[in-house]
Amino acid sequence: MASILIVDDDIGIRLTLQEVLISAGYETVAFITAEEALKYLQQYDPDLVLLDLNLPGMHGFNFLEIIQQMDNPPPVVIITSSTDAPSAVKAMKLGALDYITKPFNLDEILLIVKRIIANRSKDEQLAYLRKKNQHPDYDRIIGNSSAMQAVFKFIKQVAQTPKTTVLIRGETGTGKELVARAIHFQSERGNKPFIDINCSAFQETLLEAELFGYEPGAFTDAKRRKKGLLELAHEGTFFLDEIGDMAIGLQAKILKVIEKQTFRRLGGIQEIHVDTRIISATSRNLEEGIYHRTFREDLFYRLNVASIILPPLRDREGDVLLLADHFLNVYNNEFKKNIRGFTPEVKRLLMTHHWPGNVRELRNAIEKAVLFETGDFITPAHFKLTSFEPERNILSHPTSFVIPPEGIAIMDVEKALLENALLATHGNQTKAAQLLKISRETLKYRLRKFRINYHEIKARPVE
Ligand SMILES: Nc1ncnc2c1ncn2[C@@H]1O[C@H](COP(=O)(O)OP(=O)(O)OP(=O)(O)O)[C@@H](O)[C@H]1O
Ligand SMILES: [Mg+2]
Repeated sequence: MASILIVDDDIGIRLTLQEVLISAGYETVAFITAEEALKYLQQYDPDLVLLDLNLPGMHGFNFLEIIQQMDNPPPVVIITSSTDAPSAVKAMKLGALDYITKPFNLDEILLIVKRIIANRSKDEQLAYLRKKNQHPDYDRIIGNSSAMQAVFKFIKQVAQTPKTTVLIRGETGTGKELVARAIHFQSERGNKPFIDINCSAFQETLLEAELFGYEPGAFTDAKRRKKGLLELAHEGTFFLDEIGDMAIGLQAKILKVIEKQTFRRLGGIQEIHVDTRIISATSRNLEEGIYHRTFREDLFYRLNVASIILPPLRDREGDVLLLADHFLNVYNNEFKKNIRGFTPEVKRLLMTHHWPGNVRELRNAIEKAVLFETGDFITPAHFKLTSFEPERNILSHPTSFVIPPEGIAIMDVEKALLENALLATHGNQTKAAQLLKISRETLKYRLRKFRINYHEIKARPVE
């Protein structure tokens, strides 16, 4: 809800303005003097100031000058008598946006106020985008595989239902954020803001303050009112990245926002209405979070209305070379180079690599190769892939291993783990056992049990 500060020493005017503005849905606060209004401005950030010039104490002109020196000055509209045109002109020179003359026409006031406030919220959203260094355009999603066709179809479908909550799952680097943006920009909310926040990047109280905003005095450092990101996402899309990392206490509050479409700033009493589509993403296994009581089951069902698991790159047949060409183009342009393609050896590497970091890993590898390659083609000398990164999802973050909806045989997982560990260590059993944190004897026993031939694995070409 937008807030308007009124400064006028005439009680009749203050009351009339407040009445008409409040009934039009604005929040108002009124003062008699500029001195009082300044004190208020040190703590709050109104969306508009309506200012009378002839005030007891500090004159409106001086007040206007002080406002203009503030960091993010609110727009000011002057209230002036119809006989005092020169003052209005001077006030505009000092930075006032507009003026209204007494006696007022209430419709005219509302029109001016509405127009200025609409621009102001656009400015705030733009400032946010600039700060985040985001381009309002979204990147193209590349992919021809049937796995990706299903993703495109999903995007198209949910784009058409702009209120549906969406959950995007998938390993790191599979394009979750890209898909979230695509849904937003293809929906009717596309020309409204896309606001994102990474839940794993903030500790609980900070994340809460970012999401909901706060009133002055809500906590020690809260000197001024700050709007929450949720407010900025009004009519647009709110992307909660890494939702699996959100503290359980905050989960209850987000649940309430989804259910009631309202929230309160920290330290605030007023319910703020927000109409936004929530898209969340996670590379963690939320079901496991529910089991361990680190993730609320009721929130899970609320988020999971429409959901998709993005396929890992290794399961997108044909897409690796397509993406490789795409990124070659991108980085040729960026580095002003003219590399024409990949040597057959590099193509083989591209097609056999396991891509634990998915599209991001591919993009980074090609960026580096383009930067350092001096010839016409990308050669193995400059195309470096880490021969193995332990399956992050399984080995180093057991809780983020995603169980597919159709279920999975635990024996198959164990067998895959053993094989991967041997692959990673080129068949070295001692090292493989260390990776799996079991003894060499246990490893040997299990290799026999699963009839895994480590000589064969040892002989496989190194990726
Ligand atoms: N299909 C695709 N086509 C083109 N670029 C892609 C595609 N998928 C991902 N990318 C690029 O790969 C990088 C990683 O994508 P993104 O950040 O969306 O992944 P993510 O799933 O959110 O990863 P994380 O879980 O690590 O946050 C980005 O630079 C993105 O532009
Ligand atoms: Mg991401």
